[in-house]
Amino acid sequence: MFQSLQQAPSDAILGLIAEYRDDSRASKIDLGVGVYRNPEGVTPVLDVVKLAEQRLVDTQTSKAYIGTAGDPGFNTAMQALTFANDAPADRLVTIQTPGGSGSLRVAAGLLLRAHENATVWVSEPTWANHIPLLGGAGLKLQPYPYYDTENHVLRFEAMLDALQSIPKGDVLLLHACCHNPSGVDPSAEQWRAITDVVVERELVPFIDMAYQGFAIDLDQDAFAIRHMVGRVAEMVVSSSCSKNFGLYRDRVGTLSLLAEDATSKTIVQSQINNYVRTLYSVPPDHGAAVVSTILHDDELRTQWMGELAEMRNRLNDMGVLLGETLQDKVPDHDFSHLARANGMFCFLGVSAEQVTRLKKEFGIYMVNSSRINVAGITAQNVDYLAESIAAVL
Ligand code: LMR
Repeated sequence: MFQSLQQAPSDAILGLIAEYRDDSRASKIDLGVGVYRNPEGVTPVLDVVKLAEQRLVDTQTSKAYIGTAGDPGFNTAMQALTFANDAPADRLVTIQTPGGSGSLRVAAGLLLRAHENATVWVSEPTWANHIPLLGGAGLKLQPYPYYDTENHVLRFEAMLDALQSIPKGDVLLLHACCHNPSGVDPSAEQWRAITDVVVERELVPFIDMAYQGFAIDLDQDAFAIRHMVGRVAEMVVSSSCSKNFGLYRDRVGTLSLLAEDATSKTIVQSQINNYVRTLYSVPPDHGAAVVSTILHDDELRTQWMGELAEMRNRLNDMGVLLGETLQDKVPDHDFSHLARANGMFCFLGVSAEQVTRLKKEFGIYMVNSSRINVAGITAQNVDYLAESIAAVL
């Protein structure tokens, strides 16, 4: 059976984990996979997560199945976190999913059940796994312009022009905040203009929110979703708790679908439940139970928002620090975009050859596109990092 298989390529992002681990240089720096790191270079379990886990251990009485849609208490709390009070509850379905990727995969299956030729328009560039994940599920994908690699800004006019010629009814994949890989997001005014085109062209917005709370705050980061939900007939939202709760390996996320009316919602709900049963039957519980415990308890929720702000501030500070250090070492190059990026990622703006040199000669790991995770920067390694970058320019 398996003799016919060929070696698969290693993953552009996750492949870096093993490469970095196997590098024995003490000076190595990991700017690859998107996990938060504290100033000591550790990806901690949040204190608030430890408290919620202890509470669960003490009080949980059963590990029985909870159903294809997961825990209703978690789903309600996550719906409120995502949409606040802006969503029409009689049209909105939210289910618990195995992380953001699980959410995207269920959404892909649902879109294909609804329309076997469904086409999804994705930003150029987009998260490296969007294309294999959604394309591998069978969706047709098309790019729209997004990032100006020369000036490190949003190609807003080109983007809007392109959206205007997308066929009616197609799906438009958008990043709610902290665009991965560029860190460049539309402003509120630009989101309003994008929404106007979405409404006019009758597009179905499909919003991926993997970093709520990492750009500005929980509410402002959800602006696009909350603005659109009142104006569109149908919508898809994938949310992840990997980053903002630090629950990466526990796989926690939600999929929300806005239907045109209450009757359609009932049908959509039945289709999701039926589809999930054919995929993984029921989602994993532990991480979602942790999130639900935190969101339903005022004290834990306040503590979580504090820890989230700490992560967000550190990411901002590290982008600024690298930008300033590079400015000192290579004043003839402009790295000011590093300080402007939202969230974990931005492009360093060097070639694939320079990325390879940084890895081979200096033990500095990043995605080939030169996307860096600024959480890998510390006050201790920033000089070495900037000197290494300067050496390959
Ligand atoms: C990333 O973009 O590095 C993260 O979202 C992790 C992943 O699964 O790719």
